[in-house]
Amino acid sequence: MTGERAQRGVAAAAGEHGGVPADVSRLRVRTVEILPGEVILIDQLALPHAERYVHCGNWQEVAARITDMTVRGAPAIGVTAAGGLALAAAAAAVASPADPAAFRAALEQAASGLLATRPTAVNLRWAVDEMRLVWTACAEPPAACAELLLARAQAILQDDIARCLRIGAHGSALFKAGDTILTHCNAGALATAGYGTALGVVRAASARHGGISVLVDETRPWLQGARLTAWELGVEGIPYRLISDNMAGHFIQRGAVDGVVVGADRIAANGDTANKIGTYTVSVLAKEHGVPFYVAAPLSTVDLTVSSGAGIPIEERAEAEVTAFHGCQVAPDGARAYHPAFDVTPAANITAFVTEAGVLRAPFARSLATACAGGKCES
Ligand code: MRU
Repeated sequence: MTGERAQRGVAAAAGEHGGVPADVSRLRVRTVEILPGEVILIDQLALPHAERYVHCGNWQEVAARITDMTVRGAPAIGVTAAGGLALAAAAAAVASPADPAAFRAALEQAASGLLATRPTAVNLRWAVDEMRLVWTACAEPPAACAELLLARAQAILQDDIARCLRIGAHGSALFKAGDTILTHCNAGALATAGYGTALGVVRAASARHGGISVLVDETRPWLQGARLTAWELGVEGIPYRLISDNMAGHFIQRGAVDGVVVGADRIAANGDTANKIGTYTVSVLAKEHGVPFYVAAPLSTVDLTVSSGAGIPIEERAEAEVTAFHGCQVAPDGARAYHPAFDVTPAANITAFVTEAGVLRAPFARSLATACAGGKCES
């Protein structure tokens, strides 16, 4: 960690977040920072072995870091893309100080590049659309519009933390002291601008009731659970045990799980939900054994333009991410693999959505539409 970054980490630990609940001020790291001229990302490829930060000075670098998963997690990707557009705006204002049409064309080009990085998380499109509202409405010279876009990106970041806090507050009421929560992938502070969605519920439940413990699916093939969720919970001092993905059924069958909480990359209008590959399997196990299965997500993850899960694009990633891990080949030479990065959990397997607007119950087409009223979701 750089000296500057270490200072920032200490400041955050000391309560730099000011005015938010104490358990948030304990967060040691910032996933994304959006500053004039740079976007700073914690390097999620290096965790848990090293805590280091990547500085991006232009939107192309931001896009590359989303693609290679230096930053990942649906809300974090959206916030980071907003930061990338703020960088694009600053550069375009310098290149075309008196040409608003060229300024806007440069932003559209950056938006296309950022949108092409990862297809499943709709928060990316949501954030780009939020930023586009600013540049299309701005009648000022490009430099002034660029300032507005930087401010909007920073506001999107703060807003994401605020949403996660509300998700945590609503979700904590679903659990009691001593409960064990199973989670899949990483839907924590690292997957958002801070605090997390599924792990926001865990954090808030732990702060509210005490005695909460977590079963963490390792989450093959990227091991977001083993590398990131376990790291976050360790930092927070919340007890957890790591399990390989194929152990989830064993523990659920034995009554060791009081509830499952996962995040989401895209929620269709009917409640079908895309999340990290393996989530569907856990939902089937939970349903079979009568264990509540909660999806915690901000409304920016809801895509009302998609009527069901069949319409959600599923990202296909490289086969080598399955046949090898961190450069170490685990399969025979020439082995072929499949690598869908997400799967779709049918709405029927979901007990409730935990959103910043409250806990939404079935029928989800109605409860999601009501929560989304007034343009709060992608539509
Ligand atoms: O491929 P990733 O690591 O970006 O996938 C992340 C997930 O599937 C998360 O569960 C989801 O984005 C919710 S994050 C709050």
